[in-house]
Amino acid sequence: MNIFRTKDPDFLKEQDSGHSLKRALTALDITLMGIGVIVGAGIFVMTGIAAAKYAGPGIMISYAVASLACVFVCLAYSELASAIPAAGSAYTYTYVGGGELLAWLVGWNLVLEYSVGASAVAGGWSAYFVGILKSAGIELPTAITSVPYDGGIINLPAVLIILFITFLLVRGVKESATVNRWLVGIKLAAIFIFLLLAGPKVDATNWTPFLPYGFAGISAGASIIFFAYLGVDSLATAAEETKNPQRDMPLGIILSLVVCTVLYISVSGVLTGVVPYAELNTPEPVTYALRKLGYNFGSAVLGTGAIAGLTTVCLLMIYAQTRAFFAMSRDGLIPASLCKLHPKYGSPHIITMIVGITVALIAGFTPIGLVAEMCNVGTLFAFIVASVCVVVLRKTRPNMKRPFRCPAVTVVAALAVLSSLYIMSGLATETWIRFIVWTLVGLVIYFVYGARNSRVGLSAEGKVPA
Ligand code: ALA
Repeated sequence: MNIFRTKDPDFLKEQDSGHSLKRALTALDITLMGIGVIVGAGIFVMTGIAAAKYAGPGIMISYAVASLACVFVCLAYSELASAIPAAGSAYTYTYVGGGELLAWLVGWNLVLEYSVGASAVAGGWSAYFVGILKSAGIELPTAITSVPYDGGIINLPAVLIILFITFLLVRGVKESATVNRWLVGIKLAAIFIFLLLAGPKVDATNWTPFLPYGFAGISAGASIIFFAYLGVDSLATAAEETKNPQRDMPLGIILSLVVCTVLYISVSGVLTGVVPYAELNTPEPVTYALRKLGYNFGSAVLGTGAIAGLTTVCLLMIYAQTRAFFAMSRDGLIPASLCKLHPKYGSPHIITMIVGITVALIAGFTPIGLVAEMCNVGTLFAFIVASVCVVVLRKTRPNMKRPFRCPAVTVVAALAVLSSLYIMSGLATETWIRFIVWTLVGLVIYFVYGARNSRVGLSAEGKVPA
């Protein structure tokens, strides 16, 4: 059994040749897509918890650090995405560059990014939903709005929103550029409402001490709010549809990261400036702050915007998860029967329902901070492996067509790895233990099923046509 067998990129292109995409996207389109997938629970939810428990007002620096890591990783990713424009993103790139076992582990960790990430977003959605009802004078009992860890029984709104999204995805919802533009507008409006209402009320004394938990608080904060940048990696997959990838990909990615970073630093600065950081340990910090300042109506409007934004982020993450599983099942690493298409709706309904129900259960019963940390460690792992693969592939497949070439690739990949490791250094020990357990479970599944059923493996033995 050769666990380091790799996939041939030409074979991948043939598999995907059914949909060769039109080159229509500009740098501005990529920037808007970026804001659409990036802005979500990170800023609207994690900022409060990260400031209260880890970084204090220094959370602003955590945001800058995490953003830098994403710039490097995305530049590297874009090269892979343009050279290997196939479904499955980091999983597929690693299959070509780093071999099957590593690819499986990356795919397995993408489950943390997408499924576990969607649970965290749903937890935030629920917090904002409950907050809006509160502004309207309706108080739902804690038992049905909080996970057991926080004194409740089940987070029912989080479960229900996930089940609703799953239903939409089974029916075959498509992402739409128009809807995305509207949502970007709504999310930005929500953020500007907050900055305009709360900005003038900043009291600089709240910013001292700036680093109540010392310098270690910066990486600990970054290890949580890194979540706020997730989704940026999915932009790389648009390389195939970009008019001028060599110019527009880096420009679009960097622009969306710059816009998001400026927004994130402004919001976290204002938030820690109007409310003492220690009070921010709530999953709906921005509306909490506005209510505290007496803006009940503004808080409700902002909450509605946040809810709209969080709904799409959640939908996109579950969608991405089903597509990643789809790519893995096509390679034989998980059973193909799971990814059968619905005869009427054309969606991979079985895997969508399995993912949806799992995400709903996690969201209903697990605290959001824990969920977000798991999500981040998995994603950072995938980021590191994919960044190394870019350099490896330059050596092993120098002639592969690369519509976008990462500038100074060795330096950029090294910086991507180092900055990801720095953020990982801030993760709690329990997160590492959970991550190791998760990886071991993944290894068992691979050796019991994937290694024996891999299409690349079987075709090398002549058992299935390539
Ligand atoms: N970046 C996305 C969010 O913050 C995942 O919700």
